[in-house]
Amino acid sequence: MILKNEKLADDVFQSLRKEVLEQWPTGRAVDFEAAVKYQKEIPAAKRFSLKLDKADKEGATLIQPRAGVALPDEHIELLRFLETEGEADLLPSTIDSYTRHNRYKEAEVGIEESRTHHRSLLNGFPAVNHGVEVCRKVTSSVKSPVQVRHGTPDARLLTEISVAGGFTSYEGGGISYNIPYAKEHSLEKTIYDWQYCDRLIGLYEEAGVTINREPFGPLTGTLVPPCISNSVAVLESLLAAAQGVKHLTVGYGQCGNVIQDVAAIKSLRKVTEDFLREHGFGDVTVTTVLHQWMGGFPQDESKAFGVISWGAATAALAGATKVIVKTPHEAMGVPTKEANAAGLKATKQVVSMLADQNLLNLKEVNEEARIIEEEMRAILAATLEIGGGDFALGSVRAFAAGVIDVPFAPSKFNAGKILPARDMNGAVRLLDTGNLPFTDALKKFHKDKLEERGKAERRPVSFQMVVDDIYAIGKGHLVGHPQGGAR
Ligand code: 5AD
Repeated sequence: MILKNEKLADDVFQSLRKEVLEQWPTGRAVDFEAAVKYQKEIPAAKRFSLKLDKADKEGATLIQPRAGVALPDEHIELLRFLETEGEADLLPSTIDSYTRHNRYKEAEVGIEESRTHHRSLLNGFPAVNHGVEVCRKVTSSVKSPVQVRHGTPDARLLTEISVAGGFTSYEGGGISYNIPYAKEHSLEKTIYDWQYCDRLIGLYEEAGVTINREPFGPLTGTLVPPCISNSVAVLESLLAAAQGVKHLTVGYGQCGNVIQDVAAIKSLRKVTEDFLREHGFGDVTVTTVLHQWMGGFPQDESKAFGVISWGAATAALAGATKVIVKTPHEAMGVPTKEANAAGLKATKQVVSMLADQNLLNLKEVNEEARIIEEEMRAILAATLEIGGGDFALGSVRAFAAGVIDVPFAPSKFNAGKILPARDMNGAVRLLDTGNLPFTDALKKFHKDKLEERGKAERRPVSFQMVVDDIYAIGKGHLVGHPQGGAR
């Protein structure tokens, strides 16, 4: 197999499909024609991409939780609670870890044990085991659009069952669901498997069914420089569009400095739109999502609300189309439905109050966005070059060469050469740019920002800053100053 960023041929797709639908008995119930008919009967108000497009035109920021339990009735009750009590605009179905690893036998045991013990013994909703009919029951039992959210390197069967099951949005990508989640999965294979997922959604689009696609933005969620996660989002957008995807939501995980975060969302949208247009996909719609703080959370619930609210404010000020919401139970594990609704309501309050404000045209934001854009363009140009003009092959080679490099990623297909640290204002900079294809001016920009911090802290710029920054949040600070919160 030679990876290429080209639409999978029909015969290749159909022969793969036979194998995919045999992976678990529920696969046999997938009937594409019937699924298209079912999808077409879903009311417009429940179609994910339409609700996002409308919010985007109005400049509104929609709120969406994460949620998933093992059994269908409890899962439906949970989603209903989040849309009524929690005021969620968009709903999720978070998939359990066994399903993410294609371990359907173990998921089945988890379902049985959850029935016996009257509580969820899986950390999400096992959509593959439940199959098409149960998914339709879930998606038709709520008023809002529902998305599948997961973290699955080989998600082909899950995609088949989800879309046939009435979900109208689907998260993930061949890079973003590999590098931060897996150690041994080859990037070449996961990109190929995700071409299948995107081609399937392309087939639905061609049959008149719009399905929203969301590459997973935050990656490892720890000190990821915006240029890295944004470049991956652009690549996954191009890979998806080549398979016929028409509705994309590109994402970014909050880093904590509001100027940098607003600039990141601004440049993410702009460069994604530019690249799609320049590569012949000008008809694809682009919306954005900000993920509230993906790093460690305080145990204390009031403090957790502080973190949640800062994420909510950042999403509103960045004009993100939606925000993925954390809960006051984040430090503890899977939240109760009440804690989940509480995070949503705190977020709704902040987003509503900031509905008429944004920082998108602030001078400092424009300056920061210009730098992120320059970095992204350098990374994307080098990726295309190393791939001999192909973004799929280029992505594999760029990761191998460290042209794209995700900090703190478990994957052995990631170079792991760059080192991020925060500057004096908490913005994420690079202490070591590794093999990123940056100009000397860009390298100097990062160096100067960190030297400014070293001077203020009266210590040399070193790995210790990285360590201090990782621990800072646990102590209630963004920047790991040696003297604590003060400069
Ligand atoms: N319900 C709610 N939140 C979940 N997360 C993972 N699984 C679930 C679930 N079943 C959340 C984690 C973390 C994020 C990556 O996903 O708490 O915030």
